[in-house]
Amino acid sequence: MFLEKNVPLQPYNTFGIAAKAQALVRVRSEGDLLAVLADPELAALPRQILGGGSNIVLTGDVKALVLKIEVPGMRLARETDKHWVIEAGAGEDWHALVAWTLDNAYPGLENMALIPGTVGASPVQNIGAYGVELQDRFDSLDAMDLLTGELFSLNAAQCGFSYRDSVFKHASAGPDGLGLAGRAVILRVRFALPKRWKAELGYLDLERKMAETGIHNPDARQIFDWVVAIRRAKLPDPAVIGNAGSFFKNPTVTPEQCADIIARDPKVVHYPMPDGSVKLAAGWLIDACGWKGKTVGHAGVYEKQALVLVNRGGRENPCTGGEVMTLAKAIQTSVYERFGIRLEPEPVVI
Ligand code: EPU
Repeated sequence: MFLEKNVPLQPYNTFGIAAKAQALVRVRSEGDLLAVLADPELAALPRQILGGGSNIVLTGDVKALVLKIEVPGMRLARETDKHWVIEAGAGEDWHALVAWTLDNAYPGLENMALIPGTVGASPVQNIGAYGVELQDRFDSLDAMDLLTGELFSLNAAQCGFSYRDSVFKHASAGPDGLGLAGRAVILRVRFALPKRWKAELGYLDLERKMAETGIHNPDARQIFDWVVAIRRAKLPDPAVIGNAGSFFKNPTVTPEQCADIIARDPKVVHYPMPDGSVKLAAGWLIDACGWKGKTVGHAGVYEKQALVLVNRGGRENPCTGGEVMTLAKAIQTSVYERFGIRLEPEPVVI
């Protein structure tokens, strides 16, 4: 274990916000975590786990000890009659894993191509795109309990997945509580990829691609290419324009609330959910309030997708976390005033 001090975090968050970590340890294996726990000075510090930094807003220097997760590895762990079980280190880049599985003829993750972030962060918010969520392909994960130093494994039910949510997003409520935020560090994740692969194409953007190309039986590689093209066309590349993906979750309302909004705004984009509720497109709501292209300081609303907030100042004059949050609050207020809906941010504010 090697302790680094005053580490610039700008390269480690996809918004490109400038901030420093007072102390940072790179975690390449469970041994690095055990060394932190064995060091009385480090063990006493509060901790901040950092993956790919693609879902955070830094509002100042980080005083907690930053545990930067860099556990490597991608392999076929085992196979059953029905599945290939692929294991990846928490520090691997998510998109690199998706590409690796396709290169090795284990399809199933292609709809989630190009989602920024690391493998270890993927279960935390149950990432998802184009009709597939992580929980649909999840097998299990290994993590370390920072209170006890013990390693443990969780299956899907134990992770408590729901839309952009899991036990890893909730504060721990005592030793027997469910929440694991700040307490568990994910080290490895296993994915169960069905041997009888089936294309998931029930998403409008993919249906459009099929119509455009005339390809009605795409293979996994074709879907991967389509998803990459769709995302490149409407989402900013964090390497060029800093951002943290969707800034707000798509809100869920009752059918009555939805009918009320439709009566006033017939064009509102809405999707009926299996449980009877209705999901609204937050991007549409924000767009309808006229936010595309608006800025606060160097933070702005992306012109092509109102759900994404971006860093307009690049690496040289980056936006601050404060500017991002001021902009986010102004958006929340205007969406609430017009539609009576409270938007909930997706990224973690640090
Ligand atoms: N829309 C607008 N104006 C906008 C943005 C969107 O009218 O400025 C409309 C679109 O025309 C569309 C609807 O809103 O009818 C939904 O937009 P889109 O299909 O782009 O998907 P989304 O709901 O905005 C979600 C995920 C994305 C994921 C895509 C594709 C959330 C919060 N976001 O976005 O995830 O890639 O679906 O599956 O669930 C992420 O979480 O970082 C992320 C990018």
